[in-house]
Amino acid sequence: MTRLDPHSFADDQQPSTKRFSLDLFVDFEARILRGTVTLCLDRPAEGVLDLDSRGLTIESVVDASGHPIEHQCGGRDAILGERLRLRTTASEVTIKYRTAPIASALQWLDAAQTRSGRPYVFTQCQAIHARSVVPCQDTPRVRSTYSAALNVPRSLVAVMAASAQGSRDVEGLRTVFRFEMPEAIPSYLLAFAVGNITQRDLDARTRIYAEPATIDAAAEEFENVPALITKAEALFGSYPWTRFDLLVMPPSFPYGGMENPRLTFVTPTLLAGDRSLVNVVAHELAHSWTGNLITNASMNDFWLNEGFTVYAERRILEATEGHESMALHAALGRDGLERDLRRLSAIDPKLTRLRTQLEGVDPDEVYSLVPYEKGFLFLVLLEAKVGRDRFDQFLLAYIDRFRFTSITTDEFLAFLREALPGIEADVDLGAWIDGEGLPPDAPSFTSARLQTIQGLLEAWGRGERPDAGKLKAFDATEWQVLLSQLPHNMPIADCAWLDQGFRLSRIENAEIRVGWLTIAAASRYVPAYDAIRETLLSVGRMKYLRPLYAALIQSGTRGFDFAAEVFAQARSGYHPVAEALISSMISNAQTSSGADARDVT
Ligand code: BES
Ligand code: ZN
Repeated sequence: MTRLDPHSFADDQQPSTKRFSLDLFVDFEARILRGTVTLCLDRPAEGVLDLDSRGLTIESVVDASGHPIEHQCGGRDAILGERLRLRTTASEVTIKYRTAPIASALQWLDAAQTRSGRPYVFTQCQAIHARSVVPCQDTPRVRSTYSAALNVPRSLVAVMAASAQGSRDVEGLRTVFRFEMPEAIPSYLLAFAVGNITQRDLDARTRIYAEPATIDAAAEEFENVPALITKAEALFGSYPWTRFDLLVMPPSFPYGGMENPRLTFVTPTLLAGDRSLVNVVAHELAHSWTGNLITNASMNDFWLNEGFTVYAERRILEATEGHESMALHAALGRDGLERDLRRLSAIDPKLTRLRTQLEGVDPDEVYSLVPYEKGFLFLVLLEAKVGRDRFDQFLLAYIDRFRFTSITTDEFLAFLREALPGIEADVDLGAWIDGEGLPPDAPSFTSARLQTIQGLLEAWGRGERPDAGKLKAFDATEWQVLLSQLPHNMPIADCAWLDQGFRLSRIENAEIRVGWLTIAAASRYVPAYDAIRETLLSVGRMKYLRPLYAALIQSGTRGFDFAAEVFAQARSGYHPVAEALISSMISNAQTSSGADARDVT
């Protein structure tokens, strides 16, 4: 047995799935999917085929002629789920199964939890949750094309990260939506959503999908996305996935965005009203090249997905908004990176490496900005060493060489040495790839606007408050940088000055509001508790939940009690992954008796 991916039971000596067809009956009453999947292998199995599954009930397994295949579901592992072992020499297997009511990839929302008053369900398969939706080789080393049919209640619409092939009515009660994904994708990019979903075209290539109540705001916020795609194509080559549609998710969506091919999922917290958060769309768009076209072979190589994508995101940003704006985002990233380096060093310094060793580790539990921002800095350093022109050529050659494949860090390094000979003399590749923390030659950014903010922060440190007029002229990104760098635990009078002067507790832009509320929570500024509660009850994005809960938990007994009380009320509205995260933060704080609680912001 050879398992190259620590998070999958798939065996590299066995055949791999080239194509699958998936039929799902979406049962909102029981909160389950009744599924049939046919896996077509690249060659006949040689006696054993191991698949990943989590919480699935297997009803039958047959070969192409309908003969039963002996199978057993066993080897339960807390992180990997269950190994589904088939004993067969077939090259095509069909599995009938149903999902568990709590499937880690799915969030089921009842009618009261959506703005349209109709139920909703969506997937979030990255990193290792596809196996809770369909039995499969759930490793990014395996890429498959697929077709799918989703049978849903008549009043609802199904969308999928694939090409829509139309729908048909079933006895006036249900609708079957058909999809086709002609490009080979890794399992974590399997994605669909079912709900009261309407659509609006931005141009021939890009359409917005959202619940009716958000479609206008979404179309307005994302109006410039077609222009972003054009910019990205100028940098990385023609767009490889035919369409780039966006699905605005319900507020409980646990991430900012997810790069599902042809249909990026985004949090509704991007709808700030001022287009100030489009960098998240630029990021997901960039994954169309770095991540979806060239994919990390396992979560140990996750930085190949995210580091390259942050680099590409900031190149798009620089091209559309200019250097100043890009530098502000890089500063925000650096700040978040330093915080995560501190947090992870206290857990296990090995987690601060770019290339990780995650055997026995749940990737959701160690999610951090390290692969994103350390990866970004590494690539910026490479660019600085060889110059932009050569680095751009390198990027195009990299994309061309590895398109539609999944690669390891070693494969990347071999290509780097071949394409940029002599690079090792200029950059300590070992320190960057396998070292802990941040190497001393990490690049930093300067800009006039950053310097202004730095000046304000220094003055703040001397007890001077900035001129209110100057702050009122700040744009959204400048506010984010300021708030992320202000002391997190500040005197009540300073809190009151900020909150009353700039109405930060009520501001629509979620990045700014949460940046402020995190300070307020850490500073025990109780007048902001109502706004904190409202945010924690209405938003499920983990980027916001984690620092808010952490700041409350660490602020003392009152903050801890408040956090526990709000969580008890909010948890049923969180995605399973977000619920697990906050639940473990609260119980860890309980066991470590508060005083020596880790810095988990
Ligand atoms: N692919 C990630 C989201 C993800 C990573 C989900 C790992 C599950 C496991 C996505 O592209 C992402 O990085 N989103 C960020 C956007 C930000 C970096 C601009 C987010 O959600 O905050
Ligand atoms: Zn990403």
